[in-house]
Amino acid sequence: MSTTPQTPHDPQPDHEWTDAGFATRAIHAGQDADAATGAVVTPIYQVSTYKQDGVGGLRGGYEYSRSGNPTRTALEAALASVEGGSHGFAFSSGLAAEDTLLRAVLRPGDHIVVPDDAYGGTYRLIARVFGPWGIEHTPVNLSDTDEVLAAIQPGRTKVVWVETPTNPLLGIADIAAIAGHAQAAGAVLVVDNTFATPYLQRPLELGADVVVHSTTKYIGGHSDVVGGAVVVGAGAQLPAGMQGPTGTTSLSDAVGFHQNASGAVAGPFDSWLTLRGLKTLGVRMDRHCANAQAIAEFLEGHDKVTQVIYPGLASHEQHDVAARQMSGFGGMISFRTGSVDSALAVCDRTRVFTLAESLGGVESLVEHPAKMTHGSVAGTALEVPDDLVRLSVGIEDLADLVADLTQALR
Ligand SMILES: Cc1ncc(COP(=O)(O)O)c(C=O)c1O
Repeated sequence: MSTTPQTPHDPQPDHEWTDAGFATRAIHAGQDADAATGAVVTPIYQVSTYKQDGVGGLRGGYEYSRSGNPTRTALEAALASVEGGSHGFAFSSGLAAEDTLLRAVLRPGDHIVVPDDAYGGTYRLIARVFGPWGIEHTPVNLSDTDEVLAAIQPGRTKVVWVETPTNPLLGIADIAAIAGHAQAAGAVLVVDNTFATPYLQRPLELGADVVVHSTTKYIGGHSDVVGGAVVVGAGAQLPAGMQGPTGTTSLSDAVGFHQNASGAVAGPFDSWLTLRGLKTLGVRMDRHCANAQAIAEFLEGHDKVTQVIYPGLASHEQHDVAARQMSGFGGMISFRTGSVDSALAVCDRTRVFTLAESLGGVESLVEHPAKMTHGSVAGTALEVPDDLVRLSVGIEDLADLVADLTQALR
């Protein structure tokens, strides 16, 4: 891998914390006390430009805040550390992160394998933005590794896109089983780790090349900021045969170049909010997982519910794969009620679960994917059942959540 910095600040993990545990890294990596004041929390450097000590005399490498900003650098280093990657890059949204990554690794005429129940916005980006630029895609059932491998066209497939668990059907892909085949075919393996978070699943350790996040969700964790991230694995390369814009084949060089060149960066305050959320990710995820497991079991025993989809249930088809590659099953549950009317009625009646899009915040949310988050994929291979209800289980008291669902299902 090239050691050339992609941006002046070079957002690598803070090696001082490499041997520390997850929570310690989330709180400290990249987040030394402020050099000027000793402030123990990384300040919000709400600034666009930096005084130079003579032309080219940059302090700490900072020149202009699209290229680098100290608050964003702290977040990028912390994200790289918790994912176990070599470089982190923070963006203004999850889709901005995805868009920048895809521009870095795809060229007209290339092919990408995508999940047939990917997040609708990801599919829309690939099919309707990249499609007209000459990128062909094949939707596959990611839970079926043979189907994924059969869809890879060696030499033409440049990206295998994995989302696990998927949104909203909570399918599980076997990351390690797909990794070797994708790389042997010269493709980059991308994992959208938004649902699992690095606390529960670290795709780079399982062989993925790069991880993307909507940090809007669990990493931010408080439904108060929109953001995205790309974390590149150590030594990850561009697809076979591709030369990057900086003249190297390093994937992190290419992503860093594109982040600065197209400029969809995370702003200082958004970076600060996301960094604050990251500090408590572990304790929040423990509670999300415990609440979700109990609610999934409650729903599975309910006579108005026809199917519950949660990776922590033995009834989930890929429960064993999830148990192998995740250290917990997350806070997302989908369930079916048998009819669109009853699904909509549940969404209307909950009180503690707020009817809203998005997920991963401390507060519980309910939504109807077919009419809300996944409305953009209606009529495509990614259409979701209309009796499906999706829950983002928050960290409130379990008894209140169960009571709310009990009255909503009555
Ligand atoms: C799994 C997943 N990936 C990516 C995104 C896109 O992120 P953002 O909304 O921050 O652009 C979302 C948004 O819901 C998502 O659920």
